[in-house]
Amino acid sequence: MLIEQAQKDHPSQKKTWISRIDKGKEPITEFETALARSASGRQRGILIGNDQNLNGTASLTSPFGREPQCRSRYRWDKPNPDDRYDDMARGMRPSVPLSEVAVSKTHGEDSPYFAGWKAYDEDPYDAVNNPSGVIQMGLAENQVSFDLLEEYLEEHPEASSWGSGISSFRENALFQDYHGLKTFRKAMASFMEKIRGGRAKFDPDRIVLTAGATAANELLTFILADPGDALLVPTPYYPGFDRDLRWRTGVNIIPIHCDSSNGFQITIEALEAAYSEAEAAKMRVQGILITNPSNPLGTVVTRRVLEQLLDFATRKNIHLISDEIYSGSIFSSTEFVSIAEIVEARRHEESERVHIVYSLSKDLGLPGFRVGTIYSYNDRVVTTARRMSSFSLVSSQTQKMLASMLSDVEFTERYIRTNRERLRKRYEFIIKGLKNAGIECLDGNAGLFCWMNLRPLLEEDTREGELKLWDLIVHEVKLNISPGSSCHCSEAGWFRVCFANMNLQTLEVALKRIKEFVDKRREE
Ligand SMILES: Cc1ncc(COP(=O)(O)O)c(C=O)c1O
Repeated sequence: MLIEQAQKDHPSQKKTWISRIDKGKEPITEFETALARSASGRQRGILIGNDQNLNGTASLTSPFGREPQCRSRYRWDKPNPDDRYDDMARGMRPSVPLSEVAVSKTHGEDSPYFAGWKAYDEDPYDAVNNPSGVIQMGLAENQVSFDLLEEYLEEHPEASSWGSGISSFRENALFQDYHGLKTFRKAMASFMEKIRGGRAKFDPDRIVLTAGATAANELLTFILADPGDALLVPTPYYPGFDRDLRWRTGVNIIPIHCDSSNGFQITIEALEAAYSEAEAAKMRVQGILITNPSNPLGTVVTRRVLEQLLDFATRKNIHLISDEIYSGSIFSSTEFVSIAEIVEARRHEESERVHIVYSLSKDLGLPGFRVGTIYSYNDRVVTTARRMSSFSLVSSQTQKMLASMLSDVEFTERYIRTNRERLRKRYEFIIKGLKNAGIECLDGNAGLFCWMNLRPLLEEDTREGELKLWDLIVHEVKLNISPGSSCHCSEAGWFRVCFANMNLQTLEVALKRIKEFVDKRREE
Protein backbone atom coordinates (compact mmCIF):
# COMPACT_ATOMS: atom_id res chain seq x y z
CA MET A 1 0.00 0.00 0.00
CA LEU A 2 2.80 2.29 0.99
CA ILE A 3 4.71 1.41 -2.15
CA GLU A 4 1.65 2.05 -4.31
CA GLN A 5 1.25 5.45 -2.71
CA ALA A 6 4.94 6.17 -3.20
CA GLN A 7 4.74 5.26 -6.87
CA LYS A 8 1.82 7.61 -7.28
CA ASP A 9 3.56 10.47 -5.51
CA HIS A 10 6.96 9.98 -7.15
CA PRO A 11 6.54 8.46 -10.59
CA SER A 12 10.06 9.42 -11.67
CA GLN A 13 11.58 7.02 -9.14
CA LYS A 14 9.69 4.00 -10.45
CA LYS A 15 12.79 2.08 -11.45
CA THR A 16 14.19 1.94 -7.95
CA TRP A 17 11.07 0.54 -6.27
CA ILE A 18 12.08 -3.06 -6.17
CA SER A 19 12.25 -4.23 -2.64
CA ARG A 20 12.48 -7.78 -1.50
CA ILE A 21 8.97 -7.48 -0.18
CA ASP A 22 7.80 -6.17 -3.51
CA LYS A 23 9.39 -9.13 -5.27
CA GLY A 24 7.70 -11.60 -2.90
CA LYS A 25 11.00 -12.81 -1.50
CA GLU A 26 11.79 -13.60 2.11
CA PRO A 27 10.73 -10.55 4.05
CA ILE A 28 13.40 -8.86 6.05
CA THR A 29 12.03 -8.26 9.48
CA GLU A 30 13.54 -4.83 9.90
CA PHE A 31 12.15 -3.75 6.55
CA GLU A 32 8.72 -4.83 7.68
CA THR A 33 9.14 -3.10 10.96
CA ALA A 34 10.13 0.07 9.19
CA LEU A 35 7.19 -0.20 6.83
CA ALA A 36 4.84 -0.81 9.72
CA ARG A 37 6.30 2.20 11.47
CA SER A 38 5.83 4.34 8.39
CA ALA A 39 2.35 3.03 7.72
CA SER A 40 1.19 3.45 11.28
CA GLY A 41 1.72 7.16 11.33
CA ARG A 42 2.14 9.68 8.61
CA GLN A 43 4.12 8.47 5.63
CA ARG A 44 7.71 9.30 6.47
CA GLY A 45 9.46 7.81 3.50
CA ILE A 46 9.71 5.21 0.84
CA LEU A 47 11.78 2.11 1.26
CA ILE A 48 13.72 1.49 -1.87
CA GLY A 49 15.90 -1.44 -2.73
CA ASN A 50 17.98 -1.60 -5.85
CA ASP A 51 20.56 -4.15 -6.91
CA GLN A 52 23.14 -2.62 -4.66
CA ASN A 53 21.12 -2.49 -1.53
CA LEU A 54 19.26 -5.79 -1.82
CA ASN A 55 22.11 -7.20 0.22
CA GLY A 56 20.54 -5.58 3.20
CA THR A 57 21.30 -1.89 3.01
CA ALA A 58 18.19 0.16 2.65
CA SER A 59 17.80 3.79 1.85
CA LEU A 60 14.95 5.57 3.47
CA THR A 61 14.23 8.37 1.10
CA SER A 62 12.07 11.37 1.55
CA PRO A 63 10.33 13.28 -1.17
CA PHE A 64 12.98 16.00 -0.93
CA GLY A 65 15.80 13.64 -1.81
CA ARG A 66 16.48 13.60 -5.54
CA GLU A 67 19.36 11.19 -5.83
CA PRO A 68 20.05 8.20 -3.58
CA GLN A 69 23.49 9.49 -2.63
CA CYS A 70 22.05 12.46 -0.78
CA ARG A 71 19.92 10.32 1.50
CA SER A 72 20.70 8.89 4.84
CA ARG A 73 21.52 5.18 4.84
CA TYR A 74 20.65 2.63 7.43
CA ARG A 75 22.57 -0.64 7.59
CA TRP A 76 19.80 -3.00 8.48
CA ASP A 77 22.04 -6.05 8.13
CA LYS A 78 24.67 -4.82 10.54
CA PRO A 79 23.13 -3.72 13.81
CA ASN A 80 25.41 -1.23 15.45
CA PRO A 81 25.02 -1.11 19.24
CA ASP A 82 27.26 1.97 19.38
CA ASP A 83 24.82 3.89 17.24
CA ARG A 84 22.58 5.84 19.52
CA TYR A 85 19.95 6.05 16.80
CA ASP A 86 19.92 2.29 16.21
CA ASP A 87 17.46 1.36 18.93
CA MET A 88 16.82 -2.14 17.62
CA ALA A 89 20.51 -3.00 17.70
CA ARG A 90 20.63 -1.81 21.27
CA GLY A 91 17.79 -4.19 22.10
CA MET A 92 15.34 -1.41 22.72
CA ARG A 93 11.87 -0.75 21.46
CA PRO A 94 12.17 1.64 18.49
CA SER A 95 11.84 5.18 19.78
CA VAL A 96 9.41 7.70 18.43
CA PRO A 97 10.58 8.53 14.90
CA LEU A 98 12.35 11.74 14.02
CA SER A 99 12.79 13.46 10.68
CA GLU A 100 15.24 12.18 8.13
CA VAL A 101 17.44 15.22 8.61
CA ALA A 102 17.53 14.63 12.36
CA VAL A 103 18.78 11.06 12.03
CA SER A 104 20.99 11.64 9.01
CA LYS A 105 24.73 11.08 9.45
CA THR A 106 25.67 13.98 7.21
CA HIS A 107 26.14 16.23 10.27
CA GLY A 108 29.84 15.38 10.00
CA GLU A 109 30.38 15.46 13.75
CA ASP A 110 31.67 11.90 13.94
CA SER A 111 35.00 12.99 12.45
CA PRO A 112 38.29 12.89 14.43
CA TYR A 113 38.21 16.70 14.23
CA PHE A 114 35.39 16.73 16.79
CA ALA A 115 36.64 13.62 18.66
CA GLY A 116 39.83 15.55 19.46
CA TRP A 117 37.79 18.34 21.03
CA LYS A 118 36.14 15.74 23.25
CA ALA A 119 39.54 14.44 24.37
CA TYR A 120 40.46 18.00 25.34
CA ASP A 121 37.15 18.63 27.13
CA GLU A 122 37.64 15.51 29.25
CA ASP A 123 41.18 16.37 30.33
CA PRO A 124 41.98 20.03 29.62
CA TYR A 125 45.53 21.28 30.17
CA ASP A 126 46.06 23.82 32.91
CA ALA A 127 49.58 24.97 33.77
CA VAL A 128 48.85 24.81 37.51
CA ASN A 129 45.94 22.43 38.07
CA ASN A 130 46.41 19.91 35.27
CA PRO A 131 49.89 20.24 33.70
CA SER A 132 49.67 16.80 32.07
CA GLY A 133 46.31 17.49 30.41
CA VAL A 134 45.50 17.78 26.71
CA ILE A 135 46.53 21.05 25.05
CA GLN A 136 43.89 22.32 22.64
CA MET A 137 45.56 22.92 19.26
CA GLY A 138 42.50 21.97 17.24
CA LEU A 139 40.57 25.19 17.72
CA ALA A 140 41.03 28.03 15.24
CA GLU A 141 40.42 30.76 17.76
CA ASN A 142 42.20 34.10 17.90
CA GLN A 143 43.04 35.25 21.41
CA VAL A 144 46.23 37.13 20.62
CA SER A 145 44.57 40.54 20.40
CA PHE A 146 41.85 40.24 22.96
CA ASP A 147 43.47 42.90 25.14
CA LEU A 148 42.91 45.47 22.38
CA LEU A 149 39.16 44.79 22.35
CA GLU A 150 39.00 44.96 26.14
CA GLU A 151 40.94 48.21 26.11
CA TYR A 152 38.51 49.70 23.61
CA LEU A 153 35.52 48.74 25.76
CA GLU A 154 37.13 50.24 28.83
CA GLU A 155 37.79 53.48 27.01
CA HIS A 156 34.34 53.51 25.41
CA PRO A 157 31.84 52.26 28.02
CA GLU A 158 29.00 53.82 26.00
CA ALA A 159 29.51 51.19 23.28
CA SER A 160 28.30 48.37 25.50
CA SER A 161 25.90 50.24 27.75
CA TRP A 162 22.48 51.81 27.26
CA GLY A 163 23.66 55.35 27.89
CA SER A 164 21.67 57.54 30.22
CA GLY A 165 18.12 57.17 28.94
CA ILE A 166 15.70 54.29 28.83
CA SER A 167 14.94 55.13 25.17
CA SER A 168 18.15 53.51 23.90
CA PHE A 169 17.27 50.30 25.74
CA ARG A 170 13.79 50.34 24.26
CA GLU A 171 15.10 51.01 20.78
CA ASN A 172 17.41 47.99 20.98
CA ALA A 173 15.01 45.67 22.73
CA LEU A 174 12.27 46.27 20.21
CA PHE A 175 14.41 46.31 17.06
CA GLN A 176 13.73 43.26 14.91
CA ASP A 177 14.23 44.29 11.30
CA TYR A 178 16.10 41.58 9.44
CA HIS A 179 18.00 44.21 7.46
CA GLY A 180 20.02 44.83 10.61
CA LEU A 181 21.14 48.19 11.93
CA LYS A 182 22.22 50.47 9.10
CA THR A 183 25.03 51.84 11.28
CA PHE A 184 26.37 48.33 11.78
CA ARG A 185 26.15 47.33 8.11
CA LYS A 186 28.02 50.52 7.22
CA ALA A 187 30.70 49.78 9.82
CA MET A 188 31.00 46.18 8.63
CA ALA A 189 31.35 47.25 4.97
CA SER A 190 34.06 49.73 5.86
CA PHE A 191 35.90 47.10 7.99
CA MET A 192 35.80 44.66 5.07
CA GLU A 193 37.27 47.34 2.82
CA LYS A 194 39.98 48.16 5.31
CA ILE A 195 41.23 44.59 5.70
CA ARG A 196 41.52 44.42 1.91
CA GLY A 197 43.70 47.52 1.93
CA GLY A 198 40.93 49.55 0.28
CA ARG A 199 41.35 47.62 -2.97
CA ALA A 200 37.67 46.65 -3.10
CA LYS A 201 34.46 48.50 -2.25
CA PHE A 202 31.58 47.04 -0.24
CA ASP A 203 28.07 48.42 -0.42
CA PRO A 204 26.31 48.29 3.01
CA ASP A 205 23.03 47.52 1.23
CA ARG A 206 24.46 44.25 -0.04
CA ILE A 207 25.51 43.11 3.43
CA VAL A 208 23.22 40.42 4.82
CA LEU A 209 23.81 39.68 8.49
CA THR A 210 23.85 36.10 9.77
CA ALA A 211 24.73 34.31 13.00
CA GLY A 212 28.33 33.63 11.98
CA ALA A 213 29.87 32.25 8.79
CA THR A 214 28.35 28.86 9.66
CA ALA A 215 24.87 30.21 9.07
CA ALA A 216 26.06 32.26 6.07
CA ASN A 217 27.47 29.20 4.29
CA GLU A 218 24.39 27.11 4.94
CA LEU A 219 22.06 29.88 3.95
CA LEU A 220 23.88 30.44 0.66
CA THR A 221 23.78 26.71 -0.04
CA PHE A 222 20.01 26.71 0.52
CA ILE A 223 19.67 29.56 -1.96
CA LEU A 224 22.01 28.28 -4.67
CA ALA A 225 21.39 24.53 -4.69
CA ASP A 226 18.66 21.92 -4.29
CA PRO A 227 18.87 18.61 -2.42
CA GLY A 228 20.96 16.18 -4.44
CA ASP A 229 22.89 18.99 -6.21
CA ALA A 230 26.62 19.39 -5.71
CA LEU A 231 29.09 22.05 -4.65
CA LEU A 232 32.73 21.60 -5.62
CA VAL A 233 35.07 22.26 -2.69
CA PRO A 234 38.89 22.16 -2.86
CA THR A 235 40.59 19.81 -0.40
CA PRO A 236 41.79 19.96 2.26
CA TYR A 237 38.81 21.93 3.61
CA TYR A 238 37.37 23.09 6.96
CA PRO A 239 35.67 20.00 8.47
CA GLY A 240 32.62 22.06 9.50
CA PHE A 241 31.64 22.30 5.82
CA ASP A 242 30.49 18.68 5.98
CA ARG A 243 27.82 19.89 8.37
CA ASP A 244 27.20 23.42 7.09
CA LEU A 245 26.85 22.68 3.38
CA ARG A 246 25.34 19.19 3.48
CA TRP A 247 23.39 18.27 6.58
CA ARG A 248 20.14 20.23 6.46
CA THR A 249 20.34 21.20 2.78
CA GLY A 250 20.75 17.68 1.33
CA VAL A 251 23.45 19.08 -0.98
CA ASN A 252 26.56 17.02 -1.77
CA ILE A 253 30.18 18.11 -1.56
CA ILE A 254 32.39 16.91 -4.41
CA PRO A 255 36.08 17.39 -3.56
CA ILE A 256 38.47 19.19 -5.86
CA HIS A 257 41.59 17.20 -4.99
CA CYS A 258 44.65 19.35 -4.37
CA ASP A 259 48.06 18.04 -3.31
CA SER A 260 51.45 19.07 -1.99
CA SER A 261 53.14 18.99 -5.43
CA ASN A 262 52.10 22.65 -5.97
CA GLY A 263 51.46 23.72 -2.37
CA PHE A 264 47.83 22.50 -2.55
CA GLN A 265 46.81 25.17 -5.08
CA ILE A 266 43.69 24.45 -7.14
CA THR A 267 44.40 23.38 -10.72
CA ILE A 268 42.09 23.45 -13.71
CA GLU A 269 42.62 19.70 -14.16
CA ALA A 270 41.45 19.00 -10.60
CA LEU A 271 38.48 21.31 -11.13
CA GLU A 272 37.48 19.56 -14.36
CA ALA A 273 37.90 16.15 -12.70
CA ALA A 274 35.61 17.13 -9.81
CA TYR A 275 33.02 18.48 -12.23
CA SER A 276 33.12 15.24 -14.26
CA GLU A 277 32.83 13.17 -11.08
CA ALA A 278 29.66 15.03 -10.13
CA GLU A 279 28.25 14.62 -13.63
CA ALA A 280 29.02 10.90 -13.62
CA ALA A 281 27.09 10.62 -10.35
CA LYS A 282 24.23 12.48 -12.06
CA MET A 283 24.49 15.45 -9.75
CA ARG A 284 23.85 18.96 -10.95
CA VAL A 285 26.83 21.14 -10.03
CA GLN A 286 25.63 24.50 -8.74
CA GLY A 287 28.82 26.10 -7.55
CA ILE A 288 32.38 26.11 -6.28
CA LEU A 289 33.12 27.10 -2.70
CA ILE A 290 36.66 28.18 -1.89
CA THR A 291 38.16 29.37 1.38
CA ASN A 292 40.60 32.22 0.87
CA PRO A 293 42.87 32.35 2.85
CA SER A 294 42.51 28.62 3.31
CA ASN A 295 41.58 26.79 6.46
CA PRO A 296 43.45 24.44 7.09
CA LEU A 297 46.39 25.41 4.83
CA GLY A 298 46.99 28.96 6.04
CA THR A 299 47.77 30.08 2.48
CA VAL A 300 46.11 32.48 0.06
CA VAL A 301 44.67 31.66 -3.35
CA THR A 302 46.62 33.36 -6.13
CA ARG A 303 45.11 35.96 -8.44
CA ARG A 304 45.67 33.64 -11.39
CA VAL A 305 43.74 30.80 -9.77
CA LEU A 306 40.91 33.17 -8.82
CA GLU A 307 40.70 34.31 -12.45
CA GLN A 308 40.59 30.69 -13.59
CA LEU A 309 37.89 29.83 -11.07
CA LEU A 310 35.67 32.68 -12.21
CA ASP A 311 36.24 31.76 -15.87
CA PHE A 312 35.35 28.15 -15.09
CA ALA A 313 32.22 29.17 -13.16
CA THR A 314 31.17 31.38 -16.07
CA ARG A 315 31.77 28.64 -18.62
CA LYS A 316 29.68 26.17 -16.64
CA ASN A 317 27.13 28.79 -15.58
CA ILE A 318 27.56 28.04 -11.88
CA HIS A 319 28.21 30.10 -8.74
CA LEU A 320 31.48 30.96 -7.04
CA ILE A 321 31.42 31.39 -3.27
CA SER A 322 34.51 32.71 -1.52
CA ASP A 323 34.64 32.19 2.24
CA GLU A 324 37.03 34.99 3.28
CA ILE A 325 36.68 34.56 7.03
CA TYR A 326 40.49 34.85 7.50
CA SER A 327 40.95 37.83 5.15
CA GLY A 328 42.05 40.12 8.00
CA SER A 329 44.54 37.58 9.35
CA ILE A 330 47.19 37.81 6.63
CA PHE A 331 50.55 38.14 8.30
CA SER A 332 53.16 38.05 5.58
CA SER A 333 53.91 40.40 2.75
CA THR A 334 52.21 38.05 0.28
CA GLU A 335 49.27 39.95 -0.98
CA PHE A 336 45.81 38.58 -0.33
CA VAL A 337 43.53 39.00 -3.33
CA SER A 338 39.82 38.98 -2.59
CA ILE A 339 37.40 37.73 -5.19
CA ALA A 340 35.88 41.23 -4.80
CA GLU A 341 38.99 42.67 -6.48
CA ILE A 342 38.59 40.32 -9.43
CA VAL A 343 34.94 41.34 -9.76
CA GLU A 344 35.91 45.01 -9.75
CA ALA A 345 38.76 44.52 -12.21
CA ARG A 346 36.25 42.90 -14.58
CA ARG A 347 33.85 45.81 -14.10
CA HIS A 348 31.30 43.55 -12.45
CA GLU A 349 30.92 41.34 -15.50
CA GLU A 350 29.61 37.95 -14.36
CA SER A 351 29.43 39.27 -10.80
CA GLU A 352 25.89 37.90 -10.31
CA ARG A 353 27.44 34.48 -9.69
CA VAL A 354 29.90 35.69 -7.03
CA HIS A 355 29.21 35.66 -3.30
CA ILE A 356 31.50 36.36 -0.34
CA VAL A 357 31.16 34.97 3.17
CA TYR A 358 32.73 36.80 6.09
CA SER A 359 32.51 36.78 9.88
CA LEU A 360 34.06 38.46 12.89
CA SER A 361 34.84 35.11 14.54
CA LYS A 362 38.49 34.95 13.43
CA ASP A 363 39.93 38.37 12.54
CA LEU A 364 38.33 40.00 15.55
CA GLY A 365 38.35 36.85 17.68
CA LEU A 366 34.63 37.01 18.49
CA PRO A 367 33.15 33.58 17.69
CA GLY A 368 30.81 33.83 20.67
CA PHE A 369 29.12 36.95 19.31
CA ARG A 370 27.91 35.06 16.22
CA VAL A 371 28.37 37.79 13.64
CA GLY A 372 28.68 36.80 10.02
CA THR A 373 27.73 38.15 6.67
CA ILE A 374 26.86 37.19 3.12
CA TYR A 375 27.97 39.73 0.57
CA SER A 376 26.42 38.98 -2.78
CA TYR A 377 26.63 40.86 -6.08
CA ASN A 378 23.35 39.21 -7.10
CA ASP A 379 20.23 41.22 -6.19
CA ARG A 380 17.97 38.17 -6.01
CA VAL A 381 20.41 36.39 -3.71
CA VAL A 382 20.62 39.46 -1.46
CA THR A 383 16.83 39.68 -1.18
CA THR A 384 16.38 35.96 -0.52
CA ALA A 385 19.29 35.81 1.90
CA ARG A 386 17.82 38.71 3.88
CA ARG A 387 14.50 36.94 4.12
CA MET A 388 16.17 33.70 5.16
CA SER A 389 18.42 35.46 7.65
CA SER A 390 15.31 35.67 9.86
CA PHE A 391 16.39 32.22 11.06
CA SER A 392 19.80 33.37 12.22
CA LEU A 393 19.81 37.05 13.12
CA VAL A 394 22.45 38.90 15.10
CA SER A 395 21.09 40.46 18.29
CA SER A 396 20.65 44.22 18.09
CA GLN A 397 22.67 44.70 21.27
CA THR A 398 25.67 43.00 19.61
CA GLN A 399 25.17 45.06 16.46
CA LYS A 400 25.07 48.28 18.45
CA MET A 401 28.29 47.53 20.26
CA LEU A 402 30.17 46.46 17.15
CA ALA A 403 28.84 49.38 15.12
CA SER A 404 30.52 51.67 17.59
CA MET A 405 33.78 49.68 17.64
CA LEU A 406 34.14 49.13 13.90
CA SER A 407 33.29 52.68 12.92
CA ASP A 408 36.16 53.96 15.04
CA VAL A 409 38.73 54.39 12.28
CA GLU A 410 41.69 54.86 14.59
CA PHE A 411 40.85 51.76 16.61
CA THR A 412 40.24 49.46 13.61
CA GLU A 413 43.44 50.53 11.86
CA ARG A 414 45.51 49.93 14.97
CA TYR A 415 43.75 46.64 15.66
CA ILE A 416 44.29 45.23 12.15
CA ARG A 417 47.96 46.25 12.15
CA THR A 418 48.75 44.95 15.65
CA ASN A 419 46.78 41.74 15.23
CA ARG A 420 48.66 40.90 12.02
CA GLU A 421 51.99 41.60 13.63
CA ARG A 422 51.17 39.38 16.63
CA LEU A 423 49.94 36.55 14.41
CA ARG A 424 53.12 36.77 12.35
CA LYS A 425 55.26 36.48 15.51
CA ARG A 426 53.22 33.50 16.71
CA TYR A 427 53.53 31.81 13.36
CA GLU A 428 57.30 32.32 13.25
CA PHE A 429 57.58 31.04 16.83
CA ILE A 430 55.76 27.79 16.13
CA ILE A 431 57.47 27.20 12.78
CA LYS A 432 60.87 27.64 14.44
CA GLY A 433 59.91 25.27 17.27
CA LEU A 434 58.67 22.63 14.85
CA LYS A 435 61.77 22.98 12.70
CA ASN A 436 63.83 22.42 15.80
CA ALA A 437 61.96 19.13 16.20
CA GLY A 438 62.74 18.28 12.58
CA ILE A 439 59.21 18.95 11.35
CA GLU A 440 58.42 20.86 8.15
CA CYS A 441 55.27 22.87 7.49
CA LEU A 442 53.71 24.24 4.35
CA ASP A 443 54.84 27.87 3.86
CA GLY A 444 51.92 29.79 5.32
CA ASN A 445 51.00 33.46 5.20
CA ALA A 446 47.61 33.71 6.90
CA GLY A 447 45.24 32.25 9.47
CA LEU A 448 45.51 30.92 12.97
CA PHE A 449 47.23 27.60 12.22
CA CYS A 450 50.01 25.90 10.33
CA TRP A 451 49.82 22.82 8.11
CA MET A 452 52.33 20.36 9.51
CA ASN A 453 53.85 17.47 7.59
CA LEU A 454 54.29 14.34 9.73
CA ARG A 455 54.46 12.04 6.74
CA PRO A 456 57.98 10.85 7.65
CA LEU A 457 56.60 9.57 10.97
CA LEU A 458 53.84 7.41 9.50
CA GLU A 459 54.18 3.66 9.87
CA GLU A 460 52.05 3.28 6.77
CA ASP A 461 51.31 5.96 4.21
CA THR A 462 47.51 5.66 4.48
CA ARG A 463 44.57 7.31 6.20
CA GLU A 464 44.67 4.51 8.79
CA GLY A 465 48.37 5.19 9.38
CA GLU A 466 47.62 8.87 9.84
CA LEU A 467 44.80 8.20 12.31
CA LYS A 468 47.02 5.83 14.28
CA LEU A 469 49.62 8.55 14.64
CA TRP A 470 46.91 11.10 15.49
CA ASP A 471 45.57 8.81 18.22
CA LEU A 472 49.03 8.65 19.79
CA ILE A 473 49.45 12.41 19.61
CA VAL A 474 46.07 13.08 21.24
CA HIS A 475 46.19 10.40 23.92
CA GLU A 476 49.91 10.06 24.72
CA VAL A 477 51.50 13.36 23.73
CA LYS A 478 48.26 15.04 24.86
CA LEU A 479 47.97 17.52 22.03
CA ASN A 480 44.73 17.89 20.18
CA ILE A 481 45.65 18.57 16.56
CA SER A 482 43.45 17.92 13.53
CA PRO A 483 44.36 15.12 11.14
CA GLY A 484 44.37 16.03 7.44
CA SER A 485 41.91 13.25 6.71
CA SER A 486 39.26 15.08 8.74
CA CYS A 487 39.76 17.90 6.21
CA HIS A 488 39.50 15.36 3.35
CA CYS A 489 43.15 15.82 2.43
CA SER A 490 44.11 13.38 -0.32
CA GLU A 491 47.61 12.81 1.12
CA ALA A 492 48.18 11.06 4.45
CA GLY A 493 50.36 12.58 7.17
CA TRP A 494 49.31 16.26 7.23
CA PHE A 495 47.97 17.88 10.41
CA ARG A 496 46.51 21.30 11.21
CA VAL A 497 48.00 22.89 14.31
CA CYS A 498 46.38 26.01 15.81
CA PHE A 499 48.61 28.51 17.58
CA ALA A 500 46.53 31.58 18.45
CA ASN A 501 44.12 30.16 21.05
CA MET A 502 46.64 29.87 23.90
CA ASN A 503 49.33 31.89 25.62
CA LEU A 504 52.99 31.67 24.66
CA GLN A 505 53.90 29.54 27.70
CA THR A 506 51.35 26.88 26.72
CA LEU A 507 52.65 26.95 23.16
CA GLU A 508 56.16 26.36 24.52
CA VAL A 509 54.93 23.32 26.50
CA ALA A 510 53.23 21.99 23.35
CA LEU A 511 56.41 22.38 21.28
CA LYS A 512 58.47 20.65 23.97
CA ARG A 513 56.05 17.72 23.97
CA ILE A 514 56.19 17.44 20.17
CA LYS A 515 59.99 17.49 20.15
CA GLU A 516 60.23 14.78 22.81
CA PHE A 517 57.76 12.63 20.92
CA VAL A 518 59.52 13.01 17.57
CA ASP A 519 62.97 12.36 19.10
CA LYS A 520 61.68 9.19 20.78
CA ARG A 521 59.94 8.03 17.63
CA ARG A 522 63.06 8.52 15.54
CA GLU A 523 65.12 6.52 18.03
CA GLU A 524 62.69 3.54 17.86
C1 LIG B 1 36.54 28.49 6.69
C2 LIG B 1 35.55 28.67 7.81
N1 LIG B 1 34.30 29.02 7.52
C3 LIG B 1 33.38 29.16 8.48
C4 LIG B 1 33.69 28.98 9.80
C5 LIG B 1 32.64 29.17 10.86
O1 LIG B 1 32.80 30.42 11.48
P1 LIG B 1 31.74 31.12 12.44
O2 LIG B 1 32.26 30.98 13.83
O3 LIG B 1 31.68 32.56 12.02
O4 LIG B 1 30.44 30.44 12.26
C6 LIG B 1 35.00 28.62 10.16
C7 LIG B 1 35.36 28.38 11.56
O5 LIG B 1 36.36 27.78 11.90
C8 LIG B 1 35.96 28.47 9.13
O6 LIG B 1 37.23 28.15 9.40
